[in-house]
Amino acid sequence: MSRIQPRIGSLSQKQFARAFETRLKGMHVYLDHAATSPIRPSVLVRYTKALEQIGNPSSVHSFGQTSRQMLEEARESIAKDLGCDRNEVIFTSGGTESDNLAVKGLYWHRRGQDLNRNLVITSNAEHAAVLDSVNYLVAEQGAEAYFVPLDDEGLLDLEDLARVLAERSDQVALISLMWANNEIGVVNPIMQITDLASKYSIPVHSDAIAALGHIPVSFAGSGLAAMTITGHKVGSPVGVGALILSRNQKLTPVVHGGGQERNLRSGTPDAAAASAFAIAVHEAVREQPSKQQLHAELSGRLIEAVKQMVPDVKVSSEKVERLSNNVHFRFPGCLGDSLLFLMDQNGVSISTGSACAAGVSSPSHVVLSLGAGVDEAMGTMRITFGHNSTHTDVDAFLEAFPKAYEGAKLAGLTRR
Ligand SMILES: Cc1ncc(COP(=O)(O)O)c(C=O)c1O
Repeated sequence: MSRIQPRIGSLSQKQFARAFETRLKGMHVYLDHAATSPIRPSVLVRYTKALEQIGNPSSVHSFGQTSRQMLEEARESIAKDLGCDRNEVIFTSGGTESDNLAVKGLYWHRRGQDLNRNLVITSNAEHAAVLDSVNYLVAEQGAEAYFVPLDDEGLLDLEDLARVLAERSDQVALISLMWANNEIGVVNPIMQITDLASKYSIPVHSDAIAALGHIPVSFAGSGLAAMTITGHKVGSPVGVGALILSRNQKLTPVVHGGGQERNLRSGTPDAAAASAFAIAVHEAVREQPSKQQLHAELSGRLIEAVKQMVPDVKVSSEKVERLSNNVHFRFPGCLGDSLLFLMDQNGVSISTGSACAAGVSSPSHVVLSLGAGVDEAMGTMRITFGHNSTHTDVDAFLEAFPKAYEGAKLAGLTRR
């Protein structure tokens, strides 16, 4: 997520101060749920209560055992909501850790069994937690990466995947392809991918963070060997997540120590956070059908109105199956950064969708992976809805947008 800094040519320190003032007055509208979603009231209640619990879940005294019970109840609840066995839920510190554990852990395990298996199949549109884990394996661990091509809507070329599998199945360590893309919202055909991989018994990991709560997500029916989820995108505190790992799948741990979480993720488990996480997952899964419907209405309204105002805007992945809570625009001739800051100044928080490091924006690697140019990949705006989004948020967006767009157009493509 972008660090808010006065770095856009058209904006001064004073304008930023005004943006913060608007937010402090409580009039600010939050439309960046894919970055992080506000904690749900019910989760906050459970979490603050759970934090009072004394005891390490590994301790045998009664305090410890009460913490253990809280942790195991959370595991059980998540397992029920995601259609997996409770032993398949490995608590972690969040999505980044789960992705690292899956990609590195599966690679090390498979390579350890067969030195020939050094090929990791993924795509250029994956989150950095997957891409950088793969890059690390390539740079340091003798891996080779194969990136399944995408078309301009973000659809994976499954024929190409089938071809690579047929030609090189005995070299493949794992496949890691996300369930839905967190930037452009395109949904990947996970079942078709696992179907292709199953012919060669190749484990498939999927980052399901963007999908959870927005489309049906069931581990049991997915054919996946491993699946990543994180709490803070569905209304739990930040810093808790899980890797769902099939009981038939082994992997090598990344973190070593006390052997917690089936020896796969050492470290004292955060029982309070796990308990909060379980409530958030439960509510997200329970509400998923109705929220999907509501978010489709919100997205539809927003897209139609923006198209009227800016006829040459591009809507990413518009022609394919996509998450209803995600709207991703590409505006010609202006910077996503300018739009973000001007919208923020007008009381609406959105995102460019692309990651930025230390306040320096770079073109979206996801948009580039669709074959777009650098200017197009810098002119992005992502709006994501979540559990507390309403039509009033869309009203606020549509009120703020024309002025922000005019300002961003004037600022043009000049970057500092
Ligand atoms: C698709 C995806 N994967 C992984 C992550 C990282 O998750 P966390 O912030 O819990 O480490 C994110 C969060 O931005 C994400 O959107």
